Amino acid sequence: MRSTPKRLIVALAASCAFVIFYLTWSAGEDRSSFSFRDHNDAVLKGRRQAIEGAFQHAWDGYSEHCMGHDSLHPVSNTCDDDFGGWGATAIDTLSTAILFEKEDIVRQIMIFISKLDFAKVTGGSSIQLFEVTIRHFGSMLSAHDLLHGPFSHLVNDKTLRESLYTQMVSLGAALSCGFSTPSGIPRNWVDPTKCATDDGQSNTVAGAGSLILEFAKLSEITGHQLYVELAKRAEQHLVDPHPVEMMPWPGVLGSFVRVADGQLMDMKGSWGSLADSFYEYLLKAYIYDSKAYAPYLERWKLAADSTIRYIASHPYGQPQYTFLPYWEGKKLFNAMDSLSWFAGGNFIQGGMITNNQTLIDFGLSIADTGGAMYQMTATGLGGEFVVWTDDCNDGFREQFHLEDCHANNSIQITGAEFKLRPEVIESWYYAYRATKNPKYREWAWSAYRAIERVCKTGSGFSAISDVNAPNGGKKLDQMESFVFAEIFKYLWLMHLPDHNADFHMQDSRTGEHNTWVLNTEAHLFKVAGPPV
Ligand SMILES: *[C@@H]1O[C@H](CO)[C@@H](O)[C@H](O)[C@H]1NC(C)=O
Ligand SMILES: *[C@@H]1O[C@H](CO)[C@@H](O)[C@H](O)[C@H]1NC(C)=O
Repeated sequence: MRSTPKRLIVALAASCAFVIFYLTWSAGEDRSSFSFRDHNDAVLKGRRQAIEGAFQHAWDGYSEHCMGHDSLHPVSNTCDDDFGGWGATAIDTLSTAILFEKEDIVRQIMIFISKLDFAKVTGGSSIQLFEVTIRHFGSMLSAHDLLHGPFSHLVNDKTLRESLYTQMVSLGAALSCGFSTPSGIPRNWVDPTKCATDDGQSNTVAGAGSLILEFAKLSEITGHQLYVELAKRAEQHLVDPHPVEMMPWPGVLGSFVRVADGQLMDMKGSWGSLADSFYEYLLKAYIYDSKAYAPYLERWKLAADSTIRYIASHPYGQPQYTFLPYWEGKKLFNAMDSLSWFAGGNFIQGGMITNNQTLIDFGLSIADTGGAMYQMTATGLGGEFVVWTDDCNDGFREQFHLEDCHANNSIQITGAEFKLRPEVIESWYYAYRATKNPKYREWAWSAYRAIERVCKTGSGFSAISDVNAPNGGKKLDQMESFVFAEIFKYLWLMHLPDHNADFHMQDSRTGEHNTWVLNTEAHLFKVAGPPV
C-alpha cells in the first residue's frame, strides 16, 4: 500500500511533464528537424563552448603560422598578404575575441595593432578602401565601443587602449585619402603613403555606398565631422541617384557609379556582389542614427518594395520559397550568388524596425530557402551559386537534362564550393530573432557540425570544393578573415539566450529598441541616435 502514493506521484509527474512537453511542442510550427532536446541554458552553453573551441582552434593555427599576415592557408599552413599585409585576420578577429571574452587573444591582437605602420603596404602600394573599411576599420571601431561598454572590464592596460584609439584614427585618416575625387565618390584603391588613389573611372555601388557606418562612427568617437562628411557626400549620389532612368525600378540600382560626376553607369545589378551592402547600410545607417538617416530608411523601403513587387522569384513547385534574381535593366536572370543571402536577414530586420509583417515574411521566405538549399546537399552546406526555374522552361530542362520539372529538381546548385561564407547563417540569426522558432537554431547548429566535419584542418577551417560530395570534395586551402569575424560570431549569437544581451537584434514590434547594430562584417557598433 505504501507504494501507491509514490506511484501516484510518478504518474502525476509524468502527466505534468507530458503537458509541458505537449505545450512546448504545440507552440512551435515547424518541428520537423527539431530533436526534443530543448534549448535550455545548459544546451546553449554547451554549444557556445563548442563554437568558442572551434574559434580557438582556428586562431591558434593562424597565430602560430601567420600572425601579422592577412590570412592563413589552413591546409598548406602558408600565409597570404592579399589585403596589404596589415594582418587582416588578426584585426578582423578582435571584436569576436572581445565578445567571447578571450582575454589572451584580445591582448595579443591589441599589441599587434599598436605596432602596425599603416604607411607600409606589402605586395604593392595600395589597399582596398571597401575591404579595409568593413574588416580592419570596422573591427577596431567595434572594439572601441565594446571596450567602453559591456566589456570595459576586459582590458585594463591603459597604453593598449590608447594605442587602439590612435591607430583607429590613423587608419581612418589613411582611408579618407580615397575620397579626394571630383564627385566625392571614392576610388577603391588607396595608397596610404602618398595619400593618393588609383585613377579608376568607376567604383562599385557597394564600394561607394557601404562606408557610412564606419566613417560616422569615427566622427562620433573623435568629434571630428570630416569623416562622416566624406562618406555622406559619396552616399548622396546613391541616395539621390542620377540619371533616374538608370534605375530599373524605384530605389534599385545597377552595379557601378562614375567617379567623375557620381552618375550611375549601368543597369545590371543584384542583391549580391558589387551592390549588396549598399542596400544593407541604408537600413543600418538609420538604425545607427535614426535622426540623421531617416531619408536613407525611405530609400531602403523603396528598394525593398521594388524587390518584392518586381524582382522576387519562386521556384517551380515551391511557391513558399523566394530567390532574388539578378537584373539587366528590367530583365531578370534566375541565378543567385552566395553573398545575396544576407538579404533575408536585411528584410527581416527592416520589417521589425518598421513593424511591417510583409517585409518580415518576405525575409523569412528567403531565410527558409537558404535552409532548403543547405538541406539538399550531401554535406548540409550550401554552394556559391544557385539557379532555379520558375516556369520549367525548355532551356532549364535541357541544361540539367530533366524530363520534367518537379519540386525536387527546380533548384540546382551550379557553384558547388562552400567558401565559409556567413550570409545564410546571418539570415537565420535575424529569422530566429524575429520568430524565436527553434528550427533556425537547429539549422545553424547543423551547419556548424557540417563545418566541423568537412572543413576542419589541423590549423583551422578550409573552404571546400563540393557541397554535394559527402566529404566536401577537395579542401581549397582558404580561410578568409570573415570566418573569424562572422561565421563564429553569428553561430555564437544564435546560441546566446534570448534576453541575455542588449547587442542582440531587438524586437521593435514589442517596444524593444536596438542600441547596437552590426556592420556588414558583423562588427558591433553602439548606436548614436535615438534607438529604434
Ligand atoms: C509594408 O511593406 C510592404 C512591402 O514593401 C508595403 O507594400 C506596405 O505598404 C508596407 N506597409 C506599411 C503599413 O507601410
Ligand atoms: C521527384 O519528384 C517526382 C514527382 O513527384 C518523383 O517521381 C521523383 O521520384 C522525385 N525524385 C526524387 C529524387 O525524390
